[in-house]
Amino acid sequence: MTRTALITGGSSGIGKACAEALQQQGMNVAIVDINDQGDEVAKNLNGLFVKADLSKREDCKRAVETTVKAFGSLDILINNAGFQHINPIPDFPEDVWDKMIALMLTAPFLLTKYAWENLKKSGHGRIINIGSAHSLTASPYKAAYVTAKHGLLGLMRTAALEGGEFGITCNTVAPAYVRTPLVEAQIKDQARTRGISEADVEEKVFLENVAVKKLLEPQDVANYVAYLASEEAWGITGATATIDLGWTSR
Ligand SMILES: NC(=O)c1ccc[n+]([C@@H]2O[C@H](COP(=O)([O-])OP(=O)(O)OC[C@H]3O[C@@H](n4cnc5c(N)ncnc54)[C@H](O)[C@@H]3O)[C@@H](O)[C@H]2O)c1
Repeated sequence: MTRTALITGGSSGIGKACAEALQQQGMNVAIVDINDQGDEVAKNLNGLFVKADLSKREDCKRAVETTVKAFGSLDILINNAGFQHINPIPDFPEDVWDKMIALMLTAPFLLTKYAWENLKKSGHGRIINIGSAHSLTASPYKAAYVTAKHGLLGLMRTAALEGGEFGITCNTVAPAYVRTPLVEAQIKDQARTRGISEADVEEKVFLENVAVKKLLEPQDVANYVAYLASEEAWGITGATATIDLGWTSR
């Protein structure tokens, strides 16, 4: 039977690359995103687009229900949607903290909860969280992001323990900086605020701590996700799969 994957934040960047990779493996794909671009991405992949604000509980529920209704199953959940906000803790806007935790930590929990029965039925359910090198280490001014990404590891480990007996695996892919709209916007911002060129921001800020001095591409992350989603990866669970260019070896 054709497997079905739900990808949050699948309109852009890493999520879009994951949707493309999973569709190439013959899966049905459901793209769940707040951004209407997802409609075109889904059409190109013969998939389903569910417009949703995943910081809202009812939208998380509707995303799972609509996917199962459309395809009759849900085998793979990719928790990917996210955004970035940079500010020191004393100035960090509290509403942004709430929104980031809701989208990047509570939504993965809710989607895991709502998808659970279908993942069980699948017999080889897969939950793949897109964490970050910031799941394992911190940077200043990113309190909410670092907290949410660290929190994902706790959720992953619990889901891995509870899912084992049902063939459900849960893993977290933890990349360093990936060239996506999210990072391109940060490069432009930092070039402006630091008064240096975009090339210098890339080299001196984003690649400062890594051993391999090159930004990742979305496809690099999607390749790993596609492997973890496959049936061959049945024994990998509770793992933090770093693709961090050596960042956390420091
Ligand atoms: N780009 C990087 O360097 C990098 C590195 C490590 C981890 N990540 C993680 O990868 C994930 C994807 O990031 P990306 O770089 O592809 O960013 P991106 O901005 O290209 O894509 C993020 C997607 O999430 C969607 N989204 C945002 N808020 C939403 C909401 N409330 N409800 C539903 N969808 C929403 C956006 O519309 C967008 O399509 C994020 O979790 C990010 O933290 C990115």
